[in-house]
Amino acid sequence: MSSHSSANQASSKHAAEINPIRPAGYKGLAGFHKYWGKKPTEAWRFLIERLTEDGQVVLDPFLGSGLIAKECTDLNRRFIGFDVNPISIELTKLYLDLPAHQDLLMALAMFEEAVKPAIYQMYRLANKQIATHFLWENEEITRVWTKAGRQRIELDLSATERQKLQAQSVYQSTGVRKLRLFDNSRINSKADFALSDLFTPRALQAIDLFKHEIDKYEGNVKRALQLILSASLGQMSKMVFAVTRRGKSTGKQATGIEVGSWVIGYWRPEQHFEVNAWNCFENKAKKLLNAIAQTGPQSPILTTADIAEFTHYGLDACLDVGDSELLLQQLKTESVRLILTDPPHGDRIPYLELSEMWNSVLGFEASYAEELVVSDAKGRHKDLAQYNRKLAAIFGECARVLENNGVLAVMFNARSADHWHSLHNLEAATGLTHLGSYPLAYSAGSVAQDTRKGGLRTDSVLIYGKNVSPQRRDDILHIIRSMRGKIDVQQM
Ligand SMILES: C[S@@+](CC[C@H](N)C(=O)[O-])C[C@H]1O[C@@H](n2cnc3c(N)ncnc32)[C@H](O)[C@@H]1O
Repeated sequence: MSSHSSANQASSKHAAEINPIRPAGYKGLAGFHKYWGKKPTEAWRFLIERLTEDGQVVLDPFLGSGLIAKECTDLNRRFIGFDVNPISIELTKLYLDLPAHQDLLMALAMFEEAVKPAIYQMYRLANKQIATHFLWENEEITRVWTKAGRQRIELDLSATERQKLQAQSVYQSTGVRKLRLFDNSRINSKADFALSDLFTPRALQAIDLFKHEIDKYEGNVKRALQLILSASLGQMSKMVFAVTRRGKSTGKQATGIEVGSWVIGYWRPEQHFEVNAWNCFENKAKKLLNAIAQTGPQSPILTTADIAEFTHYGLDACLDVGDSELLLQQLKTESVRLILTDPPHGDRIPYLELSEMWNSVLGFEASYAEELVVSDAKGRHKDLAQYNRKLAAIFGECARVLENNGVLAVMFNARSADHWHSLHNLEAATGLTHLGSYPLAYSAGSVAQDTRKGGLRTDSVLIYGKNVSPQRRDDILHIIRSMRGKIDVQQM
C-alpha cells in the first residue's frame, strides 16, 4: 500500500457521499437576493470540507453574493472576505448574522402597519380596488390588474382614470441619491440616467416611504429590511417586461400577457409592467422569512472589518468593502489555508454598474475606479491590459498569504484567451503549482443569472498548491479526479 492510501480512502469516502454533485439550485438564502455570477453553494462546500479542517482560515477576495462565507462559518472555518461592491458585504453580513425568525416576523408586522396603507393608497383605483399591476406601453397605462381573492381581474381604464394615474408623475425622490452610471450599450445604461428613468414616480415615492420607515430599526433587523428592499427593486422598476404566448412582445395585444421579471442591465421595454411596490416588498420578505425558518437558529458569529483584530482575537470572520489589491496587503504572509475565489471574468459582468440601482437606493457609494473588470463603458477606461495587470497583482498577493500546503482554487470562465493571461502566467509569476482542473457546469443556465456572451459552456475550477508535500499533492489529485465531469448544476 502506498503511504497515502489512508488519505485516499478518506477522500473516497467523501467522494462517495457527494458524487455526482447535483446542486439543489438557488433555494433558501441562496435564492433570496439576486447577484450575477452566483456560484452554487455545493461547489464551495465540497472544496471547503475537503481542503481544510476546523478552525483553518479560508479567504475569498471576490465575495460576490457572500454565500461562501456562510458555508465556511457553518463548517467552523474562519473566513476572510473582501469585495469592492458594498452590497456584497451587506449581503454577507446578513447571512452571518441573520435576525431571529420571530424578531423579523414582528418587525415586518409593524412595518406593514406603518407603510402599507400609504402605499396602497397610491394604487387605489376609482372603484376603490387596489391595483396589483399597471401595464404600460411607452408613456401610457393601457391596462390594470387587480385581485378578487386569488383571482386576477383585468380592467380597461377610463380616460379620466388613466390620466389621474399617470398624473402622479411629479414626485421627486427625497431619500435616494442620484444614480452614477455610464454610457454602456452592453447593459443598456446611459450616463445621464436618473432614478425616474428606472422607476415611476409612484414607485419612487414608495421607495422613499420604505427607506424612511427602515431607518427606525436597528441592527440585523434593519439590515434585513434594507436588503428586502434592494432585493425587490428590480420588480418595482420599469424593467419588468411583459410576456405573451409568443414571448416578449412589442405588439399592442394585451390579452394572455404575463408578468416577466427584471433580468440584467437597464433595458426598459416599451411594454412593461409596473408592479405594486408593497407586493414586491412583501414577496421578498416572505422569501427571507422562509429561508430563515429553514436555516434554523444560528450560533453567533464574531465578525470584524479589521484584519488585525480578526487575527489577534481569533474571530470567526473578517469582512471588508474595498479593493482586494490593497486589502490583501494587510494579511500576514502564510496565514491562509485555502483561497477559494471566483474573480470577475474579464468583460462578462460589470458588477458595480449593474449594482448601482441597489447601491444608490441603499445609500452606498461604490468605488468604480478600484473595480477589477473590463467594461464597455468607454468613460471608465477599464481595458484588458489594466484587468490583466490587476488580476495578476491580486494572484501574487494570494500566493504570498497562502500557507505551505495551502490551496488556491479559482473558478473562471472566459471565451477569449486574452482574459486568461494572468492564469496562464500564474505558476511562473507566483511559484504556485497547478495541480489540476475540473469543469463546473455553467452556473448561469438562465439569463436571470448572467449573460452568456463572452463565456464558455462550463466554468473551470483551477487548483493550485503552495509547496505541497507529496502526500498532500496526492490527496488533492484524488479530489480533483473524483470531480472530473461530475459537477452539474440545475438551472435557476
Ligand atoms: C464573479 S463575482 C463573485 C461571485 C461569487 N463567487 C458568488 O458566488 O456570488 C466577482 C466579484 O468581484 C468583485 N470585485 C471586482 N473588483 C474587485 C476588487 N478590485 N476587489 C474586490 N472585489 C472586486 C465584484 O464586485 C464581484 O462581486
